Amino acid sequence: MSNIGYERTAHLYDLFGLKPNVDFYYHYARESGEAVDVGSGTGLVAIPLAERGIKVFCVEPCASMRKVFLQRVRANPYLKKNLNLLARDAASFDFGRCFDFCFLSFMFDHFLSVDERIDSLSNISRHLNPGGRLVFDVYFGYMKDEALNLSGEVEAGDLVYKRYIGGKVRGKVKEYTIVFETWEKGELRETIQQTSAAGITDWGEVHDALRKTGFVVTREFRDYEFTPYREGGELLVIEAYKKGDK
Ligand SMILES: C[S@@+](CC[C@H](N)C(=O)[O-])C[C@H]1O[C@@H](n2cnc3c(N)ncnc32)[C@H](O)[C@@H]1O
Repeated sequence: MSNIGYERTAHLYDLFGLKPNVDFYYHYARESGEAVDVGSGTGLVAIPLAERGIKVFCVEPCASMRKVFLQRVRANPYLKKNLNLLARDAASFDFGRCFDFCFLSFMFDHFLSVDERIDSLSNISRHLNPGGRLVFDVYFGYMKDEALNLSGEVEAGDLVYKRYIGGKVRGKVKEYTIVFETWEKGELRETIQQTSAAGITDWGEVHDALRKTGFVVTREFRDYEFTPYREGGELLVIEAYKKGDK
């Protein structure tokens, strides 16, 4: 994988990336006390789970995201014992054993084609015990053209960080441009531009891919508070289990 979309900006990811879903994934992970986190990024979900005593097996293909992740855990032996980080992608990771729970947080849209979704879900299925659960989110709301617009602004001491996001849909892929600006006392100090891509998919394709890879969908939500999904909703959070005898 050459360009995933975080290579130049991983060090800024946490400024804009706080996640509303840690309690949600903890709800599932606490049953077995462990979880596989595919596309763990800088650990925004994995690290809080590890702090709560969950053993998290993380998969992250982007070296600069892994670097930030490791910086965050380096100083804390308690965290280190609960975290395992593999430099692989969803289709190729191998922990050599099965688990009861796997999740993907803000990651599914990185699968750019039906084949990539099937290969990745097949490999995830291989890592689950029969009855084991897979939970992930898909944000359909982004799957349209967007002019480059300010999408976040964060103050940290003397610095102000601004993030602009725009993108164009080309067939079944959306090509993104993301620009980060660093301002100090009203002056622009740095601009970093990053390109990225997201797969365009829909509810039917997601269900199809799950069925083909041996999953049965149990519940669908429209947020991380377990509110049932309504057709046409922009956020789909899906809970499925792996078929087979326990
Ligand atoms: C939006 S970030 C989400 C990070 C983290 N899960 C979170 O919620 O903050 C998506 C992450 O998925 C990773 N990723 C992209 N393609 C992937 C793939 N095929 N398999 C596994 N991870 C992938 C990216 O490198 C990035 O770290």
